[in-house]
Amino acid sequence: MIIGIPKEIMHGEGRVSATPETVKKLVADGATVLFEKGAGVESYFPDALYAEAGATLVDDVAEVFAKSDVILKVKEPLFNEAKGLHEVDMMHEGQYLITFIHPASPVNHEMVKKMAAKKVIALTLDGVPRISRAQSMDALTSMSTCAGYKGMIMATDALPKFVPQIFCAVGMIKPANVLVLGTGVAGLQAVATAKRLGAVVHAADIRPDACEQAKSLGAKVIDLGVPPEIAIGQGGYANKLPDEWLEKERAILAEAIKDMDIVFLSALIPGKIAPILITEEMVKTMKPGSVIVDIAIDQGGDCEITPPGSIEVKHGVTLQGIKNIPGMLPTSSTWMFANNIYNLVKYLTKDGKIVLDTSDEIVSSILVCRDGEIVHVGAKEAMGL
Ligand code: NAI
Repeated sequence: MIIGIPKEIMHGEGRVSATPETVKKLVADGATVLFEKGAGVESYFPDALYAEAGATLVDDVAEVFAKSDVILKVKEPLFNEAKGLHEVDMMHEGQYLITFIHPASPVNHEMVKKMAAKKVIALTLDGVPRISRAQSMDALTSMSTCAGYKGMIMATDALPKFVPQIFCAVGMIKPANVLVLGTGVAGLQAVATAKRLGAVVHAADIRPDACEQAKSLGAKVIDLGVPPEIAIGQGGYANKLPDEWLEKERAILAEAIKDMDIVFLSALIPGKIAPILITEEMVKTMKPGSVIVDIAIDQGGDCEITPPGSIEVKHGVTLQGIKNIPGMLPTSSTWMFANNIYNLVKYLTKDGKIVLDTSDEIVSSILVCRDGEIVHVGAKEAMGL
C-alpha cells in the first residue's frame, strides 16, 4: 500500500498528518510512504527525520497524489494555488482520502460532490464516534484538548493582570477569576490549565457528569438549574435547550460574569449551531480589561459578538474568536493527530490493504463517499439529497 503525505496548503496551517515516528510504524507495517518535501517543517519535524524513518521524499505534490493508494491529510481538500489545481483534481478513482472533511458544512458540498464524481473513497475524521474502542483514533478529541489548553493560555496572555495570587512588598494581588462554560473535552482542559496557573476557576455545564468532572479538577461549579431530562439527549450528549431554558441560563450567567476576569466559551451540541450564552448586553457588564475566548466560533460562537477568526476589543472586553487554535500548537497537535490517523489506518487495514466493513460503527460513521455516491448521512441531509 502506498501512502501519500502532502503538505497542508490552508493558509497558516502548520500541522501535517504524519510524524517521523508514525512513518516508521507505517513502513514497519509494510507500507511505502511518499512524503512531500517540507511538509513537516512548520511542526518542527525536518525532512531528514522522515527520510531516516523510511519515507521517500517527493518534490512534486502531484506525484504524491498520482502514485498513492491512500492520502492522509489534516484539512479538507482545497485549491492549491501553487499548482493552479484543486487537490481533488489531483486524486484518482479508487484512491482513499482520510482527513477532516466536515462534509455537512455547506462550504464543502461542492468539493464532496467532486470527490464522489471522481470515485474517491473519502473518510472523515470528524465522524469518528466518541466510543471507547475508537478513542485512540479520535482526532477531534485530540484537537479539542489542544484548543482547551492553548485557548486558556491565549486568554491569560491577553489579561492585563497576574493570574495567580501574588504577594509582594506593596501588598497582595488577588488571583484572577476564570469561568469555563461547557466542560466537555476542551472545557475540562481549559479548567485544568487555568487551575495550574493559579486562577480561581468556576465552571458551568448543563450535563451533571460534566459538572462533576470539572469539580474533580478543582473548579467551583455554578448550578445552571437545567433538569437533566431536559439537558441530556441521545447517547448522553447535551440537548439543544428550548429558548425558555436558555433564557434562564443566561440570567444566571449574567450575574456570574460580572466578577470574572476570563470567560472561556466551549459549550456546544454536536452538529448544531452553538447556543448563545453571552449577549452583547452581558459583555457590557464585565470588568474592563477582562477577556472572552470563544472557541465555539466555528459553530457561530457562544457569545453574540465574538469576531469570527480575529481578536477585537468591544465594550472594554477583549474578545477572541481565533479559529484553528490547534494549528498554533503544531508540534503537539501534529503528534496527537498523526497517532490518531495511524491508529485508524491500522484499524482499517487487512492484509496490507484498506478494507471497509460498513457494518462496523466506526466505518459507517466516517465514510463520506464511495463508488461515486455520497453516503454520509449528515452531508446528504444538508445537501437535500
Ligand atoms: P464537547 O461536546 O466535548 O463539549 C461541549 C460541552 O458543552 C458539553 O459538555 C455540553 O454538555 C456543553 N453544553 C452544551 N450546551 C450547553 C449549554 N447551553 N450550557 C452549558 N454547557 C453546554 O465538545 P468539545 O470537543 O469540548 O468542543 C467544544 C468546542 O470547541 C466545539 O465548538 C469545537 O468545535 C471547538 N473547537 C474549536 C477549536 C478551535 O480551534 N477554535 C479546536 C477544537 C475544538
